[in-house]
Amino acid sequence: MSENGTLQPEQKMVPVFIMNKKYDVPETMTVMQAMEYSGYRYKRGCGCRGGYCGACATFFRLEGDVKLRTALACQKVVEPGMYLVQLPFFPGNKRKYDMEKLSADPGQVLKIYPELYKCLGCNTCTKSCYIEMPTLDYITALVQGDFEKAAELSFECVMCGLCSSRCPAEITHPQAAMLGMRIYGKFVVPRDEHLKKRVADILADVYEPGLRKLMAMDVDDLKELYSNREIEP
Ligand code: FES
Repeated sequence: MSENGTLQPEQKMVPVFIMNKKYDVPETMTVMQAMEYSGYRYKRGCGCRGGYCGACATFFRLEGDVKLRTALACQKVVEPGMYLVQLPFFPGNKRKYDMEKLSADPGQVLKIYPELYKCLGCNTCTKSCYIEMPTLDYITALVQGDFEKAAELSFECVMCGLCSSRCPAEITHPQAAMLGMRIYGKFVVPRDEHLKKRVADILADVYEPGLRKLMAMDVDDLKELYSNREIEP
């Protein structure tokens, strides 16, 4: 494809099977581009197109290969003979809770997501993760009440739900991880005194006069102010 999206004459085409129907698509396309090229229009299952939002979870098999593989449609480049389907949504177990009523009790996540007890340690979640997150390890950390470790290990999760869709214990890993991160941020990490002071200043309107002055300036004065700003070493 050229930069403006037109097909180049020398472009090699490869066969892919989208929901079991064969299409020939340019070999350099991502799964998402290939689906659009084949006539599919996205109303669901597409978000950032940059590998961050997790909206484009995809399953595929390669012809003659038993292994069920996973991908993000916006990131994965098509492979010849891939049979694919995209998950527009996966119904995870998303519980409601009030953070003000929780604590850093080691069993806190298990009280809200008791299905974590059912984890078999099969590691299917880790193997399903397209971005190679140590999913089983963060679930284990949550079960052990080690919120710092769980938060570190799950930090890059894009919440696509591929892990949950394959879990025999029916765990919704991203939601459990999110709760672990919230507990870690609210109850474990020491409060930042600098932030506390800054919030108090904002509530006391300390910055109001300065902001009003900026809002009254014209663009040239703003540019000059920006160019001459104080830069921290
Ligand atoms: S569309 Fe956001 S990760 Fe693919």
